[in-house]
Amino acid sequence: MIEKQTPVSGWAVYKRLLRYSVQYWKTFLVAITGMLIVALSALLFAKFVEPMLDKTFIERDLETIKWVPFALMAIYAIRMLGAFLSSYFMAYIARGVVRKMRTKVFAHYLTLPISFFDSQSSGALVSKMVYDVEQLADAAARCITVLFKDSLTIIALLIFMFLENARLTMVLLVSIPILLVFVLYISKRFRRVSQRIQSSMGDVSTITEEIIEANREVKIFGGQSYENKRFEVINKNNWRQFLKYHATNALSSPVIEFVVATGFAGVLYYVTQPGMIENITPGKFASFLTAMLLLMQSARPLAGINAQLQRGIAAAQSVFSLLDENEEINVGSHNLERVKGRIEFKNLTFSYEKDRPVIHDLNLEINAGESVAFVGHSGSGKTTLVNLLPRFYDIQQGSIEIDGHNIADVRLDSLRSHIALVSQNVTLFNDTVAHNIAYGDLDSATTEDIRAAAKAAHALEFIEQLPNGFDTLVGENGVRFSGGQRQRIAIARAILKDAPILILDEATSALDTESERHIQSALNEVMKDRTTLVIAHRLSTIERVDKIVVLDNGRIIETGKHNELLAKSGTYEKLYKLQFSETSESK
Ligand SMILES: Nc1ncnc2c1ncn2[C@@H]1O[C@H](COP(=O)(O)OP(=O)(O)O)[C@@H](O)[C@H]1O
Ligand SMILES: [Mg+2]
Repeated sequence: MIEKQTPVSGWAVYKRLLRYSVQYWKTFLVAITGMLIVALSALLFAKFVEPMLDKTFIERDLETIKWVPFALMAIYAIRMLGAFLSSYFMAYIARGVVRKMRTKVFAHYLTLPISFFDSQSSGALVSKMVYDVEQLADAAARCITVLFKDSLTIIALLIFMFLENARLTMVLLVSIPILLVFVLYISKRFRRVSQRIQSSMGDVSTITEEIIEANREVKIFGGQSYENKRFEVINKNNWRQFLKYHATNALSSPVIEFVVATGFAGVLYYVTQPGMIENITPGKFASFLTAMLLLMQSARPLAGINAQLQRGIAAAQSVFSLLDENEEINVGSHNLERVKGRIEFKNLTFSYEKDRPVIHDLNLEINAGESVAFVGHSGSGKTTLVNLLPRFYDIQQGSIEIDGHNIADVRLDSLRSHIALVSQNVTLFNDTVAHNIAYGDLDSATTEDIRAAAKAAHALEFIEQLPNGFDTLVGENGVRFSGGQRQRIAIARAILKDAPILILDEATSALDTESERHIQSALNEVMKDRTTLVIAHRLSTIERVDKIVVLDNGRIIETGKHNELLAKSGTYEKLYKLQFSETSESK
């Protein structure tokens, strides 16, 4: 998988994340207050141990004995409130960030250029949306909770311990530098492993999506064991990366605990020395010890936080680098008025990959209202050529003009609003038939218009036979329809758009000769008063177009009307004869 990771420091990521959460600062204050309450309750508890031991057990002070149980309950009642405030409101912020980020990612996917999607697997892109965003918010929320709640608790406890017994606290603090060195070392490892986990989650989605989509091919070509093997490699890698993560995580907490316990040991050693032990009551020492234990309890998640933090940063980098991908270039500012539809290709050269042009210095004029058919072997550049018109790809050399305007200077939405397209691979949306025809900008179309468009596309018959007619859900990618039916819905969509320029890229390839003939008459009607670019796979359907352009390896080798080209006895004639003999043989 090609992963263009923006090289950013941890700090840059924090700052950027912060921008997503600043709006929640009030909520954050509530959460922090909750955390403060939790920290305070820990301190109260440690303090509480001293009178509990000294007064109730040693001095047996009746007054104290009476309130001690209630004090304990009160402390935990306060803690309950604090814990709720901190957990709920941190989650509130995290979910808000997830929502905002998903909105951004989704919107970004809608504006990225086609060339971006050509280079990425859709599974990995889905995984970014589903897995990475979730990781990011979850990790960030946990980090902040731990960082504030436990840090506040630790600070409160340390202050308390310092006030109780400064010298003992100093002994404990010796272990801190050792902790820091360890934590820094382990952070790097966490981040690296987290990045690998993400990319491997992307691999898992990619292959899964592939076999789901291609389940017919897998079945008929016996691909099961091959796919199982392929998946095993990916799954094993995923498993290994997760184990590395957990090994690091599992090691880091105990190591930190061990270092803190060593500090404890120092305290114990020190406190039992002669001259020290006489100065301290059992209650005071128990109180100090409680504070130490609570401190240990708070230090433990602080160790795990590193794992979370690095996971979050890795996820943030992945999401941010996606958001940094350039949107479709929309430099044009010109707004096209209702165009007539004169199209001119001027010295057009285009390549997908550097220095490997698939269109070579192509020149072609198409008058307004004319219909032009492109023919040629598969791979000769027909689809590429018509895809340049709506600027699906950016032109590198030469230009295309519509009504004399260079399309590079026209706003994308304005340009595209003048073009209707039926592409080679029809995609239907998981919605009703009616919404599939009246899609996008067309959603204001009336029921009659939709019906008329369906009728013109010869789709009305089969739509009316559906259980709910136009309100039938098509299901994911229209599985319940045949290829020909799908094409007819797509043609209805293009007819409904009623744009001055119509592109038909093998729009009737999935139809049988009979229905194609039917649709052809309808299409001829539609083509009448608009500029139409047709790519036909059956040459019999284009005999009546105004101009036929024969392409070979991205170059125009012949142009003319059907009869003229046949008379020339060139490539077109060969192609035509070939098809003619095929069709007559198969009859
Ligand atoms: N997205 C793409 N990235 C790289 N190369 C492509 C892409 N689409 C098509 N090509 C290449 O461009 C050439 C022309 O393809 P295409 O325009 O689809 O031909 P046609 O529609 O005439 O069959 C082919 O060699 C094809 O491999
Ligand atoms: Mg094609």
